[in-house]
Amino acid sequence: MNMTGTDFFKLEPEQPDDGPAIETLLDLAFGVDRFEKSSYRLRENRAPISGLGLVLRRGEEVMGTIRFWQVSAGADHPALLLGPLAMHPDYQGVGGGQRLMREGLALAVSQGHELVFLVGDLPYYRKAGFRQVPPGQVRMPVPYDPARLLYQELRPGAFEGVSGLIQVPATG
Ligand SMILES: CC(C)(COP(=O)(O)OP(=O)(O)OC[C@H]1O[C@@H](n2cnc3c(N)ncnc32)[C@H](O)[C@@H]1OP(=O)(O)O)[C@@H](O)C(=O)NCCC(=O)NCCS
Repeated sequence: MNMTGTDFFKLEPEQPDDGPAIETLLDLAFGVDRFEKSSYRLRENRAPISGLGLVLRRGEEVMGTIRFWQVSAGADHPALLLGPLAMHPDYQGVGGGQRLMREGLALAVSQGHELVFLVGDLPYYRKAGFRQVPPGQVRMPVPYDPARLLYQELRPGAFEGVSGLIQVPATG
């Protein structure tokens, strides 16, 4: 069989016991100083939304990951925070990241989510439909580069009238 692109990966829901393999993958993809990043600081001590994480597997091994977190923009606009998105260094640039985003965002739509934010490089994420948040309209409560705060409407018009701080609701 002639496989191209990301065909040799299986895309699956993240399983509860994938945690350690995902941590190892994130160390490889981002380096161990990743905990300094603004999104990490916002998500500290919170869990991702279960049922919305996806992995790309080669055999049993996790080679790609995407996760989403429940946040609120301002006091009363529920939204998702996407991240981390990562591919194993040996498999970057073959379309895995875009595939994880395409499938992850489709899953989010199917679960009724309307708006998603992330902190990342616009040149990469614009290919998946993200746009820069107009500076100041929505802000992060941790140090960040406003040019990297991006959003995407999963329901047309969902970003209209949204403003304020992105907050992570307390869980449990
Ligand atoms: C960023 C990352 C998730 C992209 O996934 P990927 O599977 O390697 O990327 P894809 O194959 O889907 O897309 C590759 C394309 O994106 C481009 N690209 C990759 N990273 C980019 C970036 N930071 N800015 C702009 N373009 C980028 C590549 O040049 C390539 O372009 P081309 O299709 O024109 O050749 C992955 O490389 C990774 O894990 N990197 C390390 C961790 C990281 O930085 N994560 C992003 C968090 S903000």
